[in-house]
Amino acid sequence: MFVVKVLWCLLLIYHLSEGKKIKGIRAGGVETEQRGVLREKEPHVSSSIFRLFLGGEDTCTLDPLQLHTLTSCGFNSSNPLIIITHGWSVDGMMESWVMRLATAVRTNLIDANVVLTDWLSLAQQHYPVAVQRTRTVGKDIAHLLQTLQEHYKYPLRNAHLIGYSLGAHISGFAGSFLTGQEKIGRITGLDPAGPLFEGMSTTDRLSPDDAEFVDAIHTFTHERMGLSVGIKQAVAHYDFYPNGGDFQPGCDLQNIYEHISQYGILGFGQTVKCAHERSVHLFIDSLLNKDKQSMAYRCSDNSAFDKGVCLDCRKNRCNTLGYDIKKVRTGTSKRLYLKTRSRMPYKLYHYQFRIQFVNQTEKVEPSLTISLTGTKEESGAVDITFNEKISGNKTFTFLITLDRDLGELMLLNMRWEASPLWENVWDKVQTIIPWRTWERKRLLNVGKVSVKAGETQKRTSFCSMTNEGQMEASEDIVFVRCKEERPKRPRRKDNL
Ligand SMILES: *[C@@H]1O[C@H](CO)[C@@H](O)[C@H](O)[C@H]1NC(C)=O
Ligand SMILES: *[C@@H]1O[C@H](CO)[C@@H](O)[C@H](O)[C@H]1NC(C)=O
Ligand SMILES: *[C@@H]1O[C@H](CO)[C@@H](O)[C@H](O)[C@H]1NC(C)=O
Repeated sequence: MFVVKVLWCLLLIYHLSEGKKIKGIRAGGVETEQRGVLREKEPHVSSSIFRLFLGGEDTCTLDPLQLHTLTSCGFNSSNPLIIITHGWSVDGMMESWVMRLATAVRTNLIDANVVLTDWLSLAQQHYPVAVQRTRTVGKDIAHLLQTLQEHYKYPLRNAHLIGYSLGAHISGFAGSFLTGQEKIGRITGLDPAGPLFEGMSTTDRLSPDDAEFVDAIHTFTHERMGLSVGIKQAVAHYDFYPNGGDFQPGCDLQNIYEHISQYGILGFGQTVKCAHERSVHLFIDSLLNKDKQSMAYRCSDNSAFDKGVCLDCRKNRCNTLGYDIKKVRTGTSKRLYLKTRSRMPYKLYHYQFRIQFVNQTEKVEPSLTISLTGTKEESGAVDITFNEKISGNKTFTFLITLDRDLGELMLLNMRWEASPLWENVWDKVQTIIPWRTWERKRLLNVGKVSVKAGETQKRTSFCSMTNEGQMEASEDIVFVRCKEERPKRPRRKDNL
C-alpha cells in the first residue's frame, strides 16, 4: 500500500512540476476563459467530442453545430440526459469504467440519452495543463446543453452530469457557464480531483451552486506530501466518505498481485487507481444492485463514526449513496460516512453497540467475541477489542458492520477471550496458593447491551439470561431481549 501511494504521488508531483513551467507561459490565456463567454456570436468550436451511447460498445457522435446529428443518432428530447465525463488521462485511452457506467445507467433508465464526453486529447497532458483545460471542456458541455435548450426546449433540470476526478470539476464548470435562469438538475462528482482544486474558491471547483442538486463520493483522499488524489473538502450538498474516504478496502498492496494476474502488467495501473476509481464502482453498484443500496450517515468525522455514535436518520441525517440518493437540498454541505465491502455489492449493514459495564472493580482490558442471532441470519463471531481499561460503571459504544441482513435481532452471545498468557500465569499462582480458589474468578460485569441497526433505525436492548451479566474469562453468556422491551413501550428520547 505504501509503495503504491508513493509511486502515485511521485507521478503526480512529476506532472505538477512539469506543469509549472508551462503554467508560467500560459498564465494570461486562462483568464479570458471566464463566465458568460457563451454569448459569443461566432459558432462555438468544441474541443470535446460528444458521443451518444447506443448500447454495447456502440456510440454515435453528436455535433452540436449540426443538429441533424442529434436526430440521426437517436437523441430523444423527451427523455432524461446523462452526461458522463472522464478524468485526467495518462495513456490517452478511454478507461473501461466509462462503458460500464453507461451500460449500468441504461440498464436502469432504458430511455435515457447517455452521452459520453471525450476530451482525451486535452486530458492526456501534464496534470496542470489538463487542469487548465477543464474550463474549456466545461464550456463545451454548457454549449451542448444550451443548444439542446434552444432548439429542443430541453429542460436543463432533466440533465444529470456525472464526472470522475477532473471530470467532476468539468461538470461543475459546465454548470457555472450556463448563464440563464435554469440550472442543471444534478451533478455527481466521483472522487473529484484534489491537486490544484483543494481549498480553491467555489468558482474554481465543483460546488453546490453548480446545479440544483450536487452529490460527491470521496474515495481516495489519503494525503501524502501535502497532496491527495481526491479532494478532501466537501464540494456538494451531500458528500459521501466511504470507509473514511481516504483509502478503500481491497486496494492495498496484497491485491496488486491479484490485479497483475488478472490484468497483466496493466494491473499495476489498476492498483494505483483502485481507490480513486472505487467511487465509480460504488455508483455503478447503486444502479445494478437495487436491493442492496448503501446507506450513509452524517457524522463530524470518521473516528466518531467508528464509535458508532452517528447512525441516526432523523432530519435527513442519513441518505442513500449513489443514483437513488434522496435529493433534499440543504444550505450547507453534509458529510456522510459509511463502511463498505471490498467488492460489489459493496453494501454493509451498520450496527451500533452500546455495552454497559457495572461495578467493575478489577480493571480489565477485555477482548470480547460477540455473535448475533436474528430472525433471518446469524452474524458469526465478531471480535471487539477495547483500547482502554474498564473500571467502575462505564458504557462503551462502537460500530460493527455485517454483510448480511440479520432481520430482527433476537439473541446475543458474548464471550470474554482471556489472553492465554494471563491464564497460564494464573494457573501457576493457583498451584502455589491453592486455598484461595475464589480469586480465580476474574469477573466482568456486563449490564445492559443495546444494539441499534442503522439500516432499520431499530433499537434492541439485551439483558443477560443468568448471573446478572457476570462473566468469567472464556465463558459464553447469552443475552436475550430485555423483559421490559415491549413494542408499545414509549420510545426513549435520548439517542443511542
Ligand atoms: C421519445 O420518447 C418518448 C417516451 O419516452 C416516446 O413516446 C417517443 O416516441 C420517443 N420519440 C422518438 C422519436 O423515438
Ligand atoms: C454496585 O455496588 C454497590 C456497592 O458498592 C451496590 O450498592 C450496588 O447494588 C451494586 N450495583 C449493581 C448493579 O451490582
Ligand atoms: C455503579 O452504579 C451503581 C448503581 O447502578 C452504584 O450503586 C455504584 O456505586 C456504581 N459504582 C461505581 C464504582 O461507581
